[in-house]
Amino acid sequence: MEDSTADILEQLKAKFDATSQDMNTFLKGLSVSNYITYWDYIHLDTLLTLQKPKTDIPDEEIFIVYHQITELFFRLSINELKQITEFQEIDSEFFIRKVLRVNRYFKVLSHSFDIMSKGLDPKQYLKFRDALAPASGFQSFQYRVIEIMSTELLNLVEKSARSQFTKDSSVDEMFEHIYWKKGANDAQTGKKTYTLIQFEEKYQDMLLNLAREMRNKNIWACYERLKEHEKPEPLIEALKQLDADVNVNWPLSHFRTAVQYLVKGQKPLRATGGSNWREYLRPKIQQRMFYPELWTEEERLNWGRNKIDVIFSEINS
Ligand code: HEM
Repeated sequence: MEDSTADILEQLKAKFDATSQDMNTFLKGLSVSNYITYWDYIHLDTLLTLQKPKTDIPDEEIFIVYHQITELFFRLSINELKQITEFQEIDSEFFIRKVLRVNRYFKVLSHSFDIMSKGLDPKQYLKFRDALAPASGFQSFQYRVIEIMSTELLNLVEKSARSQFTKDSSVDEMFEHIYWKKGANDAQTGKKTYTLIQFEEKYQDMLLNLAREMRNKNIWACYERLKEHEKPEPLIEALKQLDADVNVNWPLSHFRTAVQYLVKGQKPLRATGGSNWREYLRPKIQQRMFYPELWTEEERLNWGRNKIDVIFSEINS
C-alpha cells in the first residue's frame, strides 16, 4: 500500500528533526524549485563537450568516444568490486551477484571491440594516431585499479620475477616488479618509455596506496575468508569467468585490433606508447591470472593459447 501524504510528511519531519532543520523552509524551497530534466540529471551538455579530437579526421571521434565508453564500464566494474571489498560480512550470494555484474560489463567490452577493429577507417586511424603519441590506453588508471582490487599483488608481478616473492612479501617491493612497469620498456632502447614515466608521475602513489590497502581486502582475500561451505560452484565459476574476461577475452579483442592496424600487410608499426607490444600484449606470454588456484594445470598452461592461434590464422589468411 502506498504511503499517505500524512505518512510522508511524518517521515520528512523525522528526517529534518534529526538534523535540527526547519521542515517548512524545505517545503517552501520545493515549491519554487524547478523540475529536474533528463539532460540536467545526466549532465548531457557537459558530456557532449568531452570529445576534443586532436585532428580534423572524422573517425578520431569514434576512437575518443569508445575509449570513454570503456572507461565508464571500468568505472561500473570498480563500483561492484568496491562493494565486495568494503563489505565486512559478505555472503556468497551477494559476492556472486557483484562478480556477475563485472563479468557482464567485460563481456560487453570484449564484444563491442569491433567498433575499433571494424568500425574505424584504417587509413584515417593510421593518420590520426600519429597525433596521439605518447598517449596510450596503457595509461588507463582504472584498468590498473581493477587488477589491483581483483587479486593478490603477487599475481600481477611480472612472470620472471614471481619466484622471488611469496604472497606475504612486502607490497612495496612486489609493486616495483608489477608486470606493466616492465612491459612499458621502449621496444628499441629498452629504457622506460615516456608513456610510463608520465603515468607513474600521475598515478604511482595512488596505485601503491591502493595495493597496500588491498593486501587483505582484494577479491581473492574476500573469497578466502568465506567458510568452505560458502564457496559454492556458481561463485567459483563467476570468479573464473572474471579471470578469463579480464585477462584473456578483453585483452585478445584488444590485441586482435592492434595486430590488425599495426601489423597486417606491412612491417609492424611502432605503438603510440612505444612498447614492445607484440610480446607485451599477449595473454599467453604475460600469464596474467587473478585466480590460478581455481584453474587446472592444463588450463593454466593453455592460458589464452587456443584463441591467439585463431587470431593469427585470421590475420594471415
Ligand atoms: C585501434 C585501437 C587500439 C589500438 C591499435 C591499441 C594499441 C595498443 C598498444 C600497441 C598497446 C601497448 C602499449 C603501447 O605501447 O602503446 C596498448 C595498450 C593498452 N591499451 Fe590499447 N589500443 C587500442 C584501443 C584501446 C581501447 C579502446 C582501450 C580502452 C581503454 C585500450 C586500452 C589499453 C590498455 C588498458 C592497455 C594496457 C594493456 C596492458 O597493460 O596489458 N586500447 N594498446
